[in-house]
Amino acid sequence: MNPDLARLQPYPFERLRQLKRDLPPFAGKEVALSVGEPKHAPPAFVLQSLAESLPELSRYPTTQGTRELREAIAQWLQRRFALTQVDPDTQVLPVNGTREALFAFTQCVADRSRDDNLVVTPNPFYQIYEGASYLAGLQPWFYNTTADSDYAPDFEAIPDSVWARCQLVFVCSPSNPSGAVVSEAALQKLINKAEAFDFVIASDECYSEIYLKEDAPPVGLLQAAHAMGNTDFKRCVAFHSLSKRSNLPGMRSGFIAGDAELLRPFLLYRTYHGCSMPVPVQMASALAWSDEDHVRDNRREYQRKFAAVLDILNTTLDVRQPDASFYLWPQLPVDDETFTRALYRDHGLSVLPGSYLSREAHGINPGRDHVRIALVAPFADCVRGAEQIRQTLESL
Ligand SMILES: Cc1ncc(COP(=O)(O)O)c(C=O)c1O
Repeated sequence: MNPDLARLQPYPFERLRQLKRDLPPFAGKEVALSVGEPKHAPPAFVLQSLAESLPELSRYPTTQGTRELREAIAQWLQRRFALTQVDPDTQVLPVNGTREALFAFTQCVADRSRDDNLVVTPNPFYQIYEGASYLAGLQPWFYNTTADSDYAPDFEAIPDSVWARCQLVFVCSPSNPSGAVVSEAALQKLINKAEAFDFVIASDECYSEIYLKEDAPPVGLLQAAHAMGNTDFKRCVAFHSLSKRSNLPGMRSGFIAGDAELLRPFLLYRTYHGCSMPVPVQMASALAWSDEDHVRDNRREYQRKFAAVLDILNTTLDVRQPDASFYLWPQLPVDDETFTRALYRDHGLSVLPGSYLSREAHGINPGRDHVRIALVAPFADCVRGAEQIRQTLESL
């Protein structure tokens, strides 16, 4: 077997299951604000398109996807990020959700023959960055994001000796778990570093459409590159998904876009990897990327939940309203595992201990004593959950 498999850590939800294993099953209704799975209704027109195009399953899909889908994505990118031109043939590739694409892209970029084998990655972080790095024969190097800087990464603080050994950088903006958005200025500094030290930037932007201020959509990596004159998006790729934007996590539909010099080998890699998107999913996805009304409605529902939940939690917790995403990431006055167990034991409410999403690095574990609360459940369950969180905090 591949010895690198032994380097994979237990997945956070498995650790959560273990944490609750010896507790008696909760007698009443259980609510999960632990998993980042959207629960709002998917758009009816997308489901209808899927149903109507099922006969298309009789065809093999191509890895590159249909021109219609790539064109719809390119137009969305241009509208959303104020880009003058995105070439649907060379700068866009459909993927089966960002998770597989983040993993596969890492395998494609990794140069195993080089001793300089770092992947610079946020901490706390989406677990795929680390697993993908290990299985590509690379070594994660963590940059901590903490409350002191409102969870913004400080790329300037990373020494040149690290950049010199770096092959790939992951950015997660809006961040899972903190919801912080990396600023355009910070992205541009990172792009300059990529130019100077010759590495690739992979920006995971799957929460980019769930933002709290309607007039402040998060900036994207391609937008930052374009604004500084890097109109070919050199060394930059962005990952986007319909999972959160359109409440379609089960459809497994997303895309990667950016530097054509990176997408060409990635298409070759995918041709062998064999992960093309079924034609009905491509047709439904093109419709979803072409509509913003359902996205706006979706966002409004999250904004309503954040307002109600923060109203309740603010009285007991120092909790920051995120820029975007559907997560709260408060720092607790108690240990994160103790709190998570008590909350489940007393109320049947699940959240995720922050330390499960982070690693010890540079002398601290930046997830410790935090919890991730995903406001995915229906409005009433989120509000009741906030009251239960307050009660549990007061009882500890
Ligand atoms: C930060 C981040 N990136 C990527 C993903 C994967 O999403 P999908 O594969 O559904 O596009 C998730 C899912 O929760 C996530 O939180």
